[in-house]
Amino acid sequence: MTTPAVLLPLSRQTEGFHIPAGVHYLNCAYMSPLLREVEEAGIEGLRLKRRPFDTTPDDFFRDSDRLREAFATLVGAADPARVAIVPSVSYGITAAARNLVPDEGSRIVILGEQFPSNVYPWRRLASDRRLELVTVDPPTVSGSRGEAWNEALLDAIDHSTSVIALPQYHWMDGTRFDLETVGRRAREVGAALIIDGTQSVGAAPFDLEAIGPDALVCAGYKWLLGPYSISLAWYGSRFDEGAPLEETWISRLGSDDFRRVAEYRDDYRPAAARYDMGERSNFILVPMQLAAIRQILEWTPERIQDYCRNITRGPLAEAASLGVSVEDEAWRGAHLFGLRLPVGVDPARLVPELEARSITVSLRGSAVRVAPHVYNGEEDLQELLEAIRSTLA
Ligand SMILES: Cc1ncc(COP(=O)(O)O)c(C=O)c1O
Repeated sequence: MTTPAVLLPLSRQTEGFHIPAGVHYLNCAYMSPLLREVEEAGIEGLRLKRRPFDTTPDDFFRDSDRLREAFATLVGAADPARVAIVPSVSYGITAAARNLVPDEGSRIVILGEQFPSNVYPWRRLASDRRLELVTVDPPTVSGSRGEAWNEALLDAIDHSTSVIALPQYHWMDGTRFDLETVGRRAREVGAALIIDGTQSVGAAPFDLEAIGPDALVCAGYKWLLGPYSISLAWYGSRFDEGAPLEETWISRLGSDDFRRVAEYRDDYRPAAARYDMGERSNFILVPMQLAAIRQILEWTPERIQDYCRNITRGPLAEAASLGVSVEDEAWRGAHLFGLRLPVGVDPARLVPELEARSITVSLRGSAVRVAPHVYNGEEDLQELLEAIRSTLA
């Protein structure tokens, strides 16, 4: 038996990115910067079109399948054929919503201020099938808001629940939701569990086997470090006989034999391939996303999370002394969290200081959302603290 290699903690990764000195980019939750090797994969893909005579039918499948494999490995999915290549989260979630047939009068549970791509498809389903859409807002409590929010979520799930649609970490302030517990509860009541993993998969561990969702959809351009307009979606067996949003030829069985694609057939390639978008073999986006996930697999989400925890711990302790609060470490991301300024201070007051110091974060609701990655160092957080200090002075 071989002993698994122990991975050393990650060090700061600046070489692979193009972030100019003096720029404090703390906003991967908005959009990741491009890794050099991902950019090169895209350029290579673009150049391939110079040589159509070198593009073989195999090129339409090879990288797409490698991408399914890389994403499956990342989320701990046993079967890469369950991974579909889609353009966006809204597309991937809509495909799930269109293929669920909940009993009339049953309930869909979502969270307050959830990202709209994981809300609008449920509003449509609720209105089409006369379902109740239950929104679980964060309770007002004196202790951990994240813990109380998780409790409120579990309390909202009962035998009348047919769908639970959630993120792993809330996009606005990084509140963590305990999906393993929610998954167990979903199975107890027979509800479908649909996850938008966009704000965590890639930067935090995601254990698909342990959570047991029915679908997981992730946009590529944030924590998956990929380009815009490609997303990955895993669909469980509940969706095996479903109808895709697009009836593509390439998702049909035997589509790799280009001479015979006009011998129309109704059966699809196995598992989730039917949910692929049209022209999913995109020769630019697919190799870019593949290169990005391969790099993440090398770094590992665990080490990315640890790295972010290490560079933020000191500055966050200091922030507390300025009256700035943050969720308990157990109930938020190390890669994604919201700072709340002292009562009565409008976060918008920070903007001139942020601009003057070339700091990029996002203001989301009442939170200053901070989203570091391995290209950041503690000094980026220190600069943010300085901006807050000057604003509060
Ligand atoms: C949680 C979450 N989901 C999804 C998206 C993107 O959705 P779409 O791919 O539908 O544009 C974002 C973008 O900010 C997000 O924060």
